[in-house]
Amino acid sequence: MFRPKPTSRFIYFSLTILLLLGFFTSILASDPITNENGDEDSEDIEELLALDEEVEQEEESGSGSSSSSSVRYSEAEVLSKAQRIVLELNGDNTKRVIDDNEFVLVLGYAPWCPRSAELMPQFAEAATLLKDLRSPLLMTKLDADRYPKAASLLQIKGFPTLLLFVNGSSQAYTGGFSAEEIVIWARKKTGVPVIRINLVTEAEEFLKKYHTFVIGFFEKFEGSDYEEFVKAATADNELQFIEVSNIGVAKVLFPQMKATNNFLGIVKSEPERYTAYEGTTFETEKLLQFFDYNKFPLVTKLTEINSARVYSSPIKLQVIVFAGEDDFEKILGPLQDVARKFKSKIMFMYIDITDENLAKPFLTLYGLEESKNTVVTAFDNKISAKFLLEADLTPTNIQDFCSRLLHGTLAPYFKSQPIPDIKDATIQSIVGKTFDALVLNSPKNVLLEVFTPWCINCETTTKQVEKLAKHFKGSDLIFGRFDAATNEHPKLQVSDYPTLLLYRAGEKANPIKLSTKSSLKDLAGSINKHLKARDKVARDEL
Ligand SMILES: *[C@@H]1O[C@H](CO)[C@@H](O)[C@H](O)[C@H]1NC(C)=O
Repeated sequence: MFRPKPTSRFIYFSLTILLLLGFFTSILASDPITNENGDEDSEDIEELLALDEEVEQEEESGSGSSSSSSVRYSEAEVLSKAQRIVLELNGDNTKRVIDDNEFVLVLGYAPWCPRSAELMPQFAEAATLLKDLRSPLLMTKLDADRYPKAASLLQIKGFPTLLLFVNGSSQAYTGGFSAEEIVIWARKKTGVPVIRINLVTEAEEFLKKYHTFVIGFFEKFEGSDYEEFVKAATADNELQFIEVSNIGVAKVLFPQMKATNNFLGIVKSEPERYTAYEGTTFETEKLLQFFDYNKFPLVTKLTEINSARVYSSPIKLQVIVFAGEDDFEKILGPLQDVARKFKSKIMFMYIDITDENLAKPFLTLYGLEESKNTVVTAFDNKISAKFLLEADLTPTNIQDFCSRLLHGTLAPYFKSQPIPDIKDATIQSIVGKTFDALVLNSPKNVLLEVFTPWCINCETTTKQVEKLAKHFKGSDLIFGRFDAATNEHPKLQVSDYPTLLLYRAGEKANPIKLSTKSSLKDLAGSINKHLKARDKVARDEL
């Protein structure tokens, strides 16, 4: 993960973290109110499980005669079936269900929580798929708002929370959030890390269901290479692994595969479909690294569901394209061509510019939150720098931008408001672009007020600065204001607002931070003291 310097004012790190946490951060109603609903809930787990059995038997007898004439369930039926497969936990049954089952996956949710609502259908679909796969995993959900005691027993602290209980002890969920990803993760953690495919027909069926997977080809399913492969399959949290020992079957899944003793490759559903592992040895760590660098598509569409996964990539250089869907479709082809050249070095992402939640926090970093046109940005998360492609969005310019990002020769972007017209106000408005000229390179002493429009105490300080400006009018101290929400400068590292900085002539590299809590009189006194001291040093040097 990122390790920003604590002094860094690049707020996108906090934004990243926010995005990351956003998915699971929420507040659990903490008052341990007594469970009023316990008595009404006469449904018992055995009854529910029995119901599941009935449903299953009905299905089996229904589809038993011929697979082509199998019963067609309506969508509503499928959904209600999926919901029945997910066992509802409550104040009475929770402890028993957790204690009596080897594998239980619990979804802790709250009815009012939109992220829970988003996850629920994926979870229900995963439950259906797992049931069809005869997984031993019991899928359950707990309304943590309604049953706070049960929630605290399971240590559910936010919504939505997924927890896996294995023989009663819990494990954090580390998989993805689509039905497919939940199934893959659940099977890995319940003893089926790899699917074995023996027949061409099985391979063809598999291709219909899975978009991204890892294939291991082994003459025999034994030996150290194979063991490392299985370890990697278990350690990985999101990819479906398959193993094959028949070369004909393997070629259905990975056509360019060269017949060697052991082979490993990753398959994705996009132009860059097949990537073979080229390492000479199969070691779990190396295999996992190979997956980390190769599992993402050439250009990944960022969504709330995959953002945590995307941010955990070891690739620390990112190029993000913000565009409307139609605009993006037009540049996707050329963009993929560029992405191919920087494969496993730069992560290419697309964010729908109309998606307020995802796009705005990023665009705000560039002062472009109102933009409707395509924007191409980049981040170097090793050095906490952000970049903006300001040239025309031609493939050549995009490629050049990426190449300079990779070689560390791009100039970082600092946002700035346009240079204001008014020059001789008592208090000058200083923007990113004029900070050098008006503060650092100015021969004058400068008192700079750094503020943001949203900061709580800024107004009080602004009033004080106005009075100070009048008081010092005609002296060699000039006053400036810097709106840190819309302006940045590499040499201005301020993290709390308001901040008052006194830049003394000839000492511009070391501004003095003045207390914003001081009275007006103390502030004026302190300014005088610092300026006099400066004058004295200057005289002594003569
Ligand atoms: C759970 O407990 C049972 C009975 O003690 C045991 O046979 C089984 O291996 C345990 N499962 C896991 C995954 O540890």
